[in-house]
Amino acid sequence: MSFATHALPGDIGIAITGLSAASLQDPATAAALREAWIAHGIVLFRRMADSPEALLALSRCFGELEVHPIPRFRLEGYPELILLTNKNGPTGPIYDFDGAHIHGRIPWHTDLAFATTPNAGALLRMVQRTAHGGQTGWIDTARAWDELDATTQARIAALEAVYHFLPDLDDMRFNNPGGTRLTPRKDEYPHFPPVAHPLVWTHPETGRKVLNLSTLNIRGIVGMPEDESDALIRELLAHTLQPRFQYIHEWENDDVMLWDNRRTMHCAFGHPVDEVRIVQRSTLRGSVAMGRVLGEHEALAS
Ligand SMILES: [Fe+2]
Repeated sequence: MSFATHALPGDIGIAITGLSAASLQDPATAAALREAWIAHGIVLFRRMADSPEALLALSRCFGELEVHPIPRFRLEGYPELILLTNKNGPTGPIYDFDGAHIHGRIPWHTDLAFATTPNAGALLRMVQRTAHGGQTGWIDTARAWDELDATTQARIAALEAVYHFLPDLDDMRFNNPGGTRLTPRKDEYPHFPPVAHPLVWTHPETGRKVLNLSTLNIRGIVGMPEDESDALIRELLAHTLQPRFQYIHEWENDDVMLWDNRRTMHCAFGHPVDEVRIVQRSTLRGSVAMGRVLGEHEALAS
């Protein structure tokens, strides 16, 4: 094998070292990389990609890439990459957290938790880090399931939860980070109907059970009274958001982080609005539906 793996702090995810750009062309190496990704869920490649081409070459080892449906999010000349930056001004809301004006804060979530088919994973490449803030965190939600007590596992194994598309943090029902919004709300998004997913996903490749709690999106448990449902979700979040299930990445330029979106949540800490941050991202297409669109009569009142 033409690379080495090392546990990340807390034994959440791995770092891969010793990988040359040339070896990515070797099918056996690509297969071994994919196997490591599926086995560990969260993977750091320290200073691995110094160009969009390098990010693409690495990304292609893990599956088919998704082109972002909205052209203005794409990196010019690279339709399979997304550009995430405030270089030409803020692209997302700015919040005041204890006097700090923060851009790009996104609480714990799973990508496309509001859709029926989540993407399989994604890769982020740090092009320009900020001096302050800007960390990205991941939670291994398969580990969180494994360490849940057996009584709770049995209680929740067959439940479904409702998830909404939620561009505004102010509307989060659980684990809302607070803060004061400094920029006006925008109404520029298409309508996404509510979906229901199993509260406990079965990973389509490993068969492992995974807690599916995307805090940005979850609204309640299907068929459960609201007070009981809220209490259960809060209990599960208190368990899942424990630091021992988290890996928080302090970025260096040209680092790449890869994750399995079907067994993790991630969050962006955000950064001071007057510092420029540039990130490129590729998305690994999902092919397995793990949720369903809710009928009108099934949608929660909230
Ligand atoms: Fe995300």
